[in-house]
Amino acid sequence: MAAPLGGNGAPHRPVLLGETINFLAPERGGLFVDCTVGTGGHSEAILQSSKLTRVIGIDLDAEALSHASKRLASFEERFYPVQANFRDIASVLHSFGDDEVRGVLVDLGVSSLQFDSPVRGFSFRFDAPLDMRMNQGEEVETAADLLLRLPEEEIARIIYEYGEERNSRRIAQWIVESREQGNPIKTTKDLADLVYRAARNRKTSIHPATRTFQALRIAVNGELEGLDKFVATATDLLQPDGRFVAISFHSLEDRIIKQELRRLSGYCQCPPRVPVCSCGTRRAVEMLTRRPVTPSTIETDQNPRARSAKLRACRKLI
Ligand SMILES: C[S@@+](CC[C@H](N)C(=O)[O-])C[C@H]1O[C@@H](n2cnc3c(N)ncnc32)[C@H](O)[C@@H]1O
Repeated sequence: MAAPLGGNGAPHRPVLLGETINFLAPERGGLFVDCTVGTGGHSEAILQSSKLTRVIGIDLDAEALSHASKRLASFEERFYPVQANFRDIASVLHSFGDDEVRGVLVDLGVSSLQFDSPVRGFSFRFDAPLDMRMNQGEEVETAADLLLRLPEEEIARIIYEYGEERNSRRIAQWIVESREQGNPIKTTKDLADLVYRAARNRKTSIHPATRTFQALRIAVNGELEGLDKFVATATDLLQPDGRFVAISFHSLEDRIIKQELRRLSGYCQCPPRVPVCSCGTRRAVEMLTRRPVTPSTIETDQNPRARSAKLRACRKLI
C-alpha cells in the first residue's frame, strides 16, 4: 500500500503547521530546536521564515533524519540534524555550545514514514516482525521481545494504561497462553489476529487491535517516561520570550504536558486546604493557549491523522 504523501511529496504531512509557526514566531530569527524533526515539515517552515533562523533537528530515527537532511539540504549550515532522544536536549545544546534558544517544538508520536513502513512493525496493515522501535540502532527491546519476557499482569497493565483497552486482561492472558504453547507472538499479523479473536466486540469503528498496538508502541519507546522533566528542561533552556510548542496525539501525553505547564505557569502545587502556600512554585512561563488548539475540519479532511492532535504553547518569562 502506498504511503499518503504530505506537502512537497514528503511521506508525512506536518500537523497544525500554521498554528505552530504563529506560536513559535521564527521570523524573529535565532536558534530553534525541533525535538522531533521527523521528515522535516515543521523545520522547513521554521527555516523558511527568516534567513536568520537556525534549527537543530533531533530525532531517534536514523531514517527520518536522513529524509529531513535531504529535504533541508538547501538551508545548508542553518540546519543541524542530531540523532538523539529529545530528553537529552540540554546535552545536545551543550555540545553545540549554544544556550540562547528562541523556540522549542515537540511533535510527539510516530510519523507517517514509520507508520506506513511495511517493515517497521508499527501497523497491523502490513505483516512484519513486531518491532516498533523508533531507534533501531539501540539495544532496546522490540515489542515481540516484551511480549516474550513480561509477566501476564504487566502486559495487561501496559495494554490497559497505554491503550485504554478494556479487554486488556483477556488479551494478555491469550498472549501468555500462546507463548506457553510454543507459539510466541512474533509478527504484527500474529498479534492483530490474536486481539481480533480475543475481542468481545468486533463491530467497532476502529480495528480491535488499534489500542493494543498503540500501547505496545508507547511501552517499547518509553514515550511517557520523563516527559514532565523534558517540558521543564526545554522551557528552562529558552531565552526570555522564547516559545515552547508541544503537539500530542493522545490523552496520556497531553495530560502530562498540561500539568507540567500548569506548574511552570505558577499554579500552586500545595495540597487543597493548606492555609499558606509552601510549595515555592514560581512563575517561569506564560501560557499562550488557554485551551489546547485542535486542527480545523479542513485540516482533518485533508489529513485524517491530525484528528486527535492537541497543541499547547507558552512563552518564557524573564
Ligand atoms: C509526529 S513525528 C514528527 C513529524 C515532524 N514534525 C514533521 O513535520 O515531519 C514524530 C517523530 O518524533 C520522533 N521521536 C519520538 N520520540 C522521540 C524522542 N524521545 N526523541 C527523539 N525523537 C523522537 C519519531 O521518531 C518521529 O520521527
